[in-house]
Amino acid sequence: MDKKNSYDFESFKEKIKENNDIVTTISKYVHLERKGKRYWGCCPFHMEKTPSFAVLEDGQYYICYGCKATGDVIKFIEKIENCDFMDACRILAKNANIEMPTFSTDENVVKLKKEKDEIYRCLKDTALYYYNNLKLPESQIALNYLAKRKLSMNTVTAFGIGYSLGWSEVINYLIQKGYSIDIMQKAGVIELKTNQNNEKLDSKNIKNYYDCYAKRLVFPIINSLGNVVGFSARLLEDANFAKYKNTAQTIVFDKSKCVFSINNIKKLKGNNELNEIIIVEGQMDVISLYQAGIKNAVACMGTALTGLHAKELKKFCDKVVLCFDGDGAGQKATLRSIDTLVKSGLDVYVVKMPEKLDPDEYIQKYGKDSYLNLIANAKYWVEFLIYNYLENYDISKPNQKTNYINTCLHIIKQLESESEQSIYLNILKGIVNVPTEILRKDMEVLDEAVISEDSVESKEEEILPSKENAYVKAVKFVIASLLHSKSYAKLDDDILDNLLNNDYITIYNYVKRCVNENKQPIVSTVFDMFDVENNFDIRDIVTYEFNKTCDNEQFYGDCVKTMVEYGLKHKQNELLKAINQCRDIDERKVLAQQLNSIIKKINSIKER
Ligand code: CTP
Ligand code: MN
Repeated sequence: MDKKNSYDFESFKEKIKENNDIVTTISKYVHLERKGKRYWGCCPFHMEKTPSFAVLEDGQYYICYGCKATGDVIKFIEKIENCDFMDACRILAKNANIEMPTFSTDENVVKLKKEKDEIYRCLKDTALYYYNNLKLPESQIALNYLAKRKLSMNTVTAFGIGYSLGWSEVINYLIQKGYSIDIMQKAGVIELKTNQNNEKLDSKNIKNYYDCYAKRLVFPIINSLGNVVGFSARLLEDANFAKYKNTAQTIVFDKSKCVFSINNIKKLKGNNELNEIIIVEGQMDVISLYQAGIKNAVACMGTALTGLHAKELKKFCDKVVLCFDGDGAGQKATLRSIDTLVKSGLDVYVVKMPEKLDPDEYIQKYGKDSYLNLIANAKYWVEFLIYNYLENYDISKPNQKTNYINTCLHIIKQLESESEQSIYLNILKGIVNVPTEILRKDMEVLDEAVISEDSVESKEEEILPSKENAYVKAVKFVIASLLHSKSYAKLDDDILDNLLNNDYITIYNYVKRCVNENKQPIVSTVFDMFDVENNFDIRDIVTYEFNKTCDNEQFYGDCVKTMVEYGLKHKQNELLKAINQCRDIDERKVLAQQLNSIIKKINSIKER
């Protein structure tokens, strides 16, 4: 692997760009015509008949006024060749007869990488240890539990399920294997005990630590690269404290993006056996389905599904089937998750589990074929929502019927093509008995009535959130400026409050830590926090191209303002949605008050 020292790397990048003229390079892929200072062609990144794709010789970048794609020559190659940043560099280097250098190494990066590897090894040994415990007579109680849950030894092995015998056994084992207390703690395997006053005991004394998963059945969580990154551990008996205990946030484990069984998804994908991913609530559901031969199910680790989970899934498959528990909580989570998944560009289907069952219970009760039948009959999310909202309204009452229709029209309007829209307008027509032409007309004027003047822009953002909108651009500039220690880049709570993505918060906090410690942030540190090559947003920040037109204090201030405006608008939209869905009058009032104060803030910013 190439080790990157930021300075060497910068000059290498410059050399590549100097020797690969952007007009010449793009001409190999796109027919360009010169008009004035610019070259024009049809954008290769979206379908179009009239050219809106411009290449600027002076600035050495391209920009599409249709889909807003923009970048330098490296970015162009990445996109057109569908390769990553380093591969694009390789292609261009070869093109210009430049040798790919081996980059010298940053000491800190090596140190952190070493630590990470040590943590992975520790986690793997811990998992194996718990697994091997099942062969001991002391584990009979865990074996009994596995039998009660009808899990076979094959399944136990496939998932590496294990058992923790007690509070200190794993510590003794890992010490004997040569791991330090520090690594065990950083891996999230052990914790320091506290006394009655909740004060931490002496951290030097090994006896003061305990196994986080003591006396529990332990499920390792394995990432797509096959590394154990954490654990989820279940009590063997029901008690009045948490049924599951999951690994806390560590350098290698972040439950806001971690997907249980993603390693199995990767295997299916590799064998060309993956058509869709089923998303369930619990890992026991995943395991139970797997045992029945349904291997394409995943679960989030006891958290709400996030855009980062969605992104992880989208790496493998575009179609997902949401199959949460049939109880109230499951249904609420379904509604929240649809939104997140659709916004991430996934094709979302939804199953409503009967009798408030979870998939594990269902498959035990009715068998595999019956479950597969449910999956095969999953409803496309739009249809699901139309029927789901029907339960909230009494459409025999005219005013409720109108509200119901409006709610549905809002959803249908989000669909991209008219033909798609007409499918669901037809379904709605079947329910409310209003002709589709009228429904369509109402739908067309809908946004103007409900969402204000900015509707066009905000609609675009809702449908195409993954595209680089003004907010994302502003955030990237601000975070990049902070990370690259630009003199004008100042930390500000307004920035932190309006970072809608955890990765950006992580970088912000890193910079903040450095500033507090009077140190300059080291860009290469980011390589250790993220898989930069595969995380496009982060890579954009690391490899940010500052140019003269934007590299200044004024622009920084404007970007912060954009972030605040967008953040407030986002909160406004969330509140509008919540108000729409809320049926409790008092609760609605509280939400309306919050909305009011947000609107006031928005107006005061406009006046500024
Ligand atoms: N969960 C958690 N902490 C809890 C309860 C649940 O982290 N106290 C997470 C677990 O990851 C669990 C998921 O939420 O897998 C779903 O919870 P639930 O539906 O209660 O779990 P089941 O999979 O049904 O678990 P089981 O069948 O073992 O009771
Ligand atoms: Mn269950």
